[in-house]
Amino acid sequence: MNVFSGIQPTGAKHLGNYAGGFRQYVATQDEAATEAGEAFFCIVDLHSVSVEHDPVDLRERTLDLFAMLVATGLDPERSAIFAQSHVTAHAEANWLLSNVTSFGELRRMTQFKDKADAQEFVSAGLFTYPVLMAGDILLYQTDVVPVGVDQRQHVELTRNVAERFNSRYGQTFKLPRGVYPEIGAKIMDLQEPEKKMSTTGGTEAGTVYILDSAEEIQRKFKTAVTDSGREVLHAEDKPGVSNLIEIMTVATGESIEAVQSRYDGQGYGTFKSEVAQAVIELLQPFQQRFHEIRDDAGELHRLLAAGAEKARAASQPTLDAMYERMGFVRLS
Ligand code: TYM
Repeated sequence: MNVFSGIQPTGAKHLGNYAGGFRQYVATQDEAATEAGEAFFCIVDLHSVSVEHDPVDLRERTLDLFAMLVATGLDPERSAIFAQSHVTAHAEANWLLSNVTSFGELRRMTQFKDKADAQEFVSAGLFTYPVLMAGDILLYQTDVVPVGVDQRQHVELTRNVAERFNSRYGQTFKLPRGVYPEIGAKIMDLQEPEKKMSTTGGTEAGTVYILDSAEEIQRKFKTAVTDSGREVLHAEDKPGVSNLIEIMTVATGESIEAVQSRYDGQGYGTFKSEVAQAVIELLQPFQQRFHEIRDDAGELHRLLAAGAEKARAASQPTLDAMYERMGFVRLS
């Protein structure tokens, strides 16, 4: 079973990224190993330039993200952890696949619509972004793509693109399957719980970063929006409290029912401060390891080079098959 996932280096990583991303990466890394598969975790720096960005920031954030992936439990010996721009197959697959993806399909992508509305300059790259993502996944004969639900539409598009390529040019790609966490697949903003937690679309006070201090975390949960009533209940008409319950289950591994019954009749004050405490305990070990790893830039470069090497070797046969089947003259 091959696993592939990607995460953007720009924007500080938050609790949503942990719930839908980092946490699942570690679990699937272990699954891939038990089923004699390979796991690939890609820092998608090429995706990050589809909206306005600062070059200095991109460089720093790429190293930050590598350190964060390792700090949260990925093992660079077992998994290929690499930067997308180091493996040119991704840019090549992007062009080839853009010719089996329709304008209409891309126009329906809700993430494009949301992001385009927030930009003054809407780049062509932002529009074709899902094609680059499809190439990321398909190059590795991926079975499983661990992501949050906000990526579901992109994973479905990837399957459609793969099927179209296979039917036009012959069987080339496996059809990948998205894997979404049962709980915490979409963590919401603490201030505006109808919006997902995000560095681009959410609020600053409602976004809990993985590197936030204990005081910041306490403050953000203390001011989190709750709903009318006093019960700690996971319910559709209680988006604020439901989100806090989900965060608690992500932090402690408990079930929703266990959290509900523990706080039965206690009101929101105690509950919020205990969720904050659970999150602090979850994040502290990651923060400590992050700083240790991030401080050794030489070692980070060495590990990035090793990851790129593994990813190049794994993706090249599929890229070659794509060129071959589409009718390009190959020099050998
Ligand atoms: P990105 O960088 O926005 O997010 C990384 C991961 O975090 C998840 N996530 C969330 N999960 C739960 N609640 C939230 N509020 C939340 N916010 C983010 C995302 O679902 C994702 O799993 N397009 C992708 C990157 C990408 C990719 C790929 C992913 C590029 N190529 C190939 C998988 C496979 C993105 O921008 O993720």
